[in-house]
Amino acid sequence: MINSLPAKVGVLGGGRMGAGIAHAFCTSGATVVVVEQDEAAAAAARERLDGSLAKSVEKGTTAESLDDLKVRLSVSTDYASFVSADLVVEAVPEDFDLKTEALTKVEQMLGSDAYLATNTSSLSVNRLAGELSRPERFCGLHFFNPVPASLLVEVVLGERTSRDLAGAASRWVEALNKTPVVVNDAPGFASSRLGVAIALEAMRMVESGVATAEDIDAAMTLGYKHPVGPLKTTDIVGLDVRLGIAEYLHSTLGDRFAPPQILRDKVAAGHLGRKMGQGFFTWDS
Ligand SMILES: NC(=O)c1ccc[n+]([C@@H]2O[C@H](COP(=O)([O-])OP(=O)(O)OC[C@H]3O[C@@H](n4cnc5c(N)ncnc54)[C@H](O)[C@@H]3O)[C@@H](O)[C@H]2O)c1
Repeated sequence: MINSLPAKVGVLGGGRMGAGIAHAFCTSGATVVVVEQDEAAAAAARERLDGSLAKSVEKGTTAESLDDLKVRLSVSTDYASFVSADLVVEAVPEDFDLKTEALTKVEQMLGSDAYLATNTSSLSVNRLAGELSRPERFCGLHFFNPVPASLLVEVVLGERTSRDLAGAASRWVEALNKTPVVVNDAPGFASSRLGVAIALEAMRMVESGVATAEDIDAAMTLGYKHPVGPLKTTDIVGLDVRLGIAEYLHSTLGDRFAPPQILRDKVAAGHLGRKMGQGFFTWDS
């Protein structure tokens, strides 16, 4: 199992990311079980997965039939479903206590040679490993949204992650047809830290009147092939989400991540970006 895709993968939490992760492993050939917190959430996860698998089959991005894919995918509310898993990826909401409790509970279900990973986007992998009895078998697998279409996974190594797992995790990511970027555990990993750094500087430039949001984004899209520009990306992610990350990076990495006043003001005014129709740009419904 260590050299290729794990045969049986568990995913804890079948929300936006968990369903995407389950989809990616299933369409790459693994047998996948998703565990949700209750029956209603399990039904929602099942619906999300059926919809995204059907879309893949329709688009021809997977050669298998929908029926064949569904045979390899199950949704449950019982953590014991992870008993024979080779790897479990945790994708419950971004809350340290919730994740620690869930990871500890999952670890107790796993065989001694199974691996455990977290899809946290900002929490410390070293801290999450703190309560685990086999921290050497634990790492971060930071998938991006939407998972099926995204090409990147950050492999986040804790201080106690074994070398075997570090190598295997990159190979799993490659088997999913994605590219691994290996990062030692640090606030914001590589992606959020750099993405937020550029976005905060762009906000400071709008704030001090250097240029308009449109022109700053155009400089980055046309000059540096940024897909949509740092300010439009902020609108899409949500200004409240970016403010939360900036506050965390400010507290851990220092003043260069201090959130600009314009970001605080927009969040206070409810201008949270695309989801509210207004952020650095105005969005049509
Ligand atoms: N949304 C993104 O763009 C994104 C990107 C990268 C990483 N992440 C990270 O992925 C994780 C999940 O985010 P999401 O956007 O999928 O959240 P989400 O709210 O869409 O999904 C979380 C799921 O976990 C389930 N859940 C909650 N408690 C549970 C428990 N104890 N046992 C089993 N299931 C439980 C919920 O029912 C829900 O379906 C977070 O750590 C987040 O930071 C999110």
